[in-house]
Amino acid sequence: MDSIRACVFDAYGTLLDVHSAVKRYADLVGVDATVVSALWRQRQLEYSWTRTMMGRYADFWQLTEESLDFALLSHGLAGRVGLKERLLEAYFELDAYPDAAETLQALREHGFLTAILSNGSQGMLQAALKASNLTDLLDVCISVDEIRIYKPDPRAYQLACDRLSVSPQEICFVSSNAWDLGGAGTFGFETIRVNRLNGPQEYAFAALRHQVQSLSELARLLGDSRAART
Ligand code: 2OP
Repeated sequence: MDSIRACVFDAYGTLLDVHSAVKRYADLVGVDATVVSALWRQRQLEYSWTRTMMGRYADFWQLTEESLDFALLSHGLAGRVGLKERLLEAYFELDAYPDAAETLQALREHGFLTAILSNGSQGMLQAALKASNLTDLLDVCISVDEIRIYKPDPRAYQLACDRLSVSPQEICFVSSNAWDLGGAGTFGFETIRVNRLNGPQEYAFAALRHQVQSLSELARLLGDSRAART
């Protein structure tokens, strides 16, 4: 961890709670709310990978809408008046995890650059960051939309090096998504997994060594490593 200068965060699932949109309207979605939210997320990610492989890029907001259509259709909810619109509106301004702001603040106090590198498009990222007062706690918010290539393609991770003017070895990439960490570790970033639900290890080939259970724990880990250096 000694060479780390910048903490680069994934957004969806890491700083922002992707299930908070359905949670906000759980009474309207009904008994399947948790399953609908999981299916929405799963298809949203799947579409990003399949479209990349097909060479049919569309921005993440469009994929968010298409995947919601699928999830609602699958659960017989497509005809529920106003539900899709409400869920999309909520997704545009997803809740941040409660420890996100204090963690970004602490990392900056320890002298780290802070950034987001997300598949999300800039409009949706900016709206969610603003709603949770996180905008000013980040040095830069990078969307892969500027190159129209989704993570985990290596060119997406290169964007963070280019925008922050640091080498891969100087970046600690933080994500809750194992597939994203697999890509980041393969690219050459140090990685930390935020494993809130204590899920099993994956992508061992990418040498993913560090794991925490919360963002607050991450701030302590990186703070301690910085203190040990000085
Ligand atoms: C991201 O924010 C989709 O979680 C993914 O890049």
